[in-house]
Amino acid sequence: KKRIVSGVQPTGSIHLGNYFGAIRNWISLQNTYDTLFFIVDLHAITLPYDAQKLAKSTRDTAAIYLACGVDTSKASVFVQSHVRAHVELMWLLSCATPVGWLNRMIQFKEKSRKEGVENVGVALLTYPVLMASDILLYQSDFVPVGEDQKQHLELTRELAERVNYLYGGKKWKKMGGRGGAIFKVPEPLIPPAGARVMSLTDGLSKMSKSAPSDQSRINLLDPKDVITNKIKRCKTDSFPGLEFDNPERPECNNLLSIYQLLSGRTKEEIAEECQGMNWGTFKPLLTDALVDHLHPIQVRYQEIISDSAYLDRILAEGAAKASDIADATLNNAYQAMGFLQR
Ligand code: TYM
Repeated sequence: KKRIVSGVQPTGSIHLGNYFGAIRNWISLQNTYDTLFFIVDLHAITLPYDAQKLAKSTRDTAAIYLACGVDTSKASVFVQSHVRAHVELMWLLSCATPVGWLNRMIQFKEKSRKEGVENVGVALLTYPVLMASDILLYQSDFVPVGEDQKQHLELTRELAERVNYLYGGKKWKKMGGRGGAIFKVPEPLIPPAGARVMSLTDGLSKMSKSAPSDQSRINLLDPKDVITNKIKRCKTDSFPGLEFDNPERPECNNLLSIYQLLSGRTKEEIAEECQGMNWGTFKPLLTDALVDHLHPIQVRYQEIISDSAYLDRILAEGAAKASDIADATLNNAYQAMGFLQR
């Protein structure tokens, strides 16, 4: 079976972008592939954070995975920091990563702009190396992510090829290794729709956990009245009718796209249904679709989060399974790079 890994940071609330860009796609993939889904807590501390909230957010995120339909009889769910190999391999990988590759990362540039490059933590720069470690440890074939992670995936591929070239192949064989590649070179799986859900208050920026205004996103755990209020107040325009793909109407395109994703219908069908509508008729439809879709997820979330023994067991089993795979890759990497065996 081909293998798939992916993860979400337990920072703030999980929103519709995380759902349509990543989590929802995991659910269909778990039937065909060997899947591992982690909560990337180590990634969540690269910017200043509240240590008293981290454990709770990590647990919440795990419960959301399960509530959205991740099935632990098929997929392994675990916490990144529970599998020590992630940080260990990161060190090996970071010794093979040119600083120039990391300086190019759009997310680093964006996130370091505010504080200034001299002031942000080193880990904000080396963040993609940890992400590469998350992926390469499991010899993953595919990584389902939203559009914003594409560049990180490219770096992961380049890094895998570089380490394979430097320490794998014939060279490694001469040193007593098995020969061949140390890491499989993974491919991103970016969904055709939903890969870039935009903000409710600005159709040109993506929906994000770190945006200061909660009005800009729909969180998966938002109650009905909050959703109603956010849709009522979201940014629209004063063009007649509703349409996809008009560059002058990014908000309209985004809201129709969300409606389409929720409905499971085609773009053409939605375009036809909505072309003659005004915002006053469309907004209640979208609100209802959101509430109907999220309500069952919220009910399941409540059940799961209130049974902490169950959740702990799932996470412990997931970490044990993941560690077996991860340790094997890590040991191969140590061996290929010439370390004295333990
Ligand atoms: P994170 O936590 O920012 O986002 C989790 C997933 O949600 C996707 N996403 C979006 N998709 C569509 N529209 C949006 N507005 C939107 N916002 C976020 C992201 O693309 C991602 O798939 N570095 C990663 C986490 C990570 C990871 C990994 C992912 C760490 N190691 C290994 C895959 C494999 C991140 O910060 O995602």
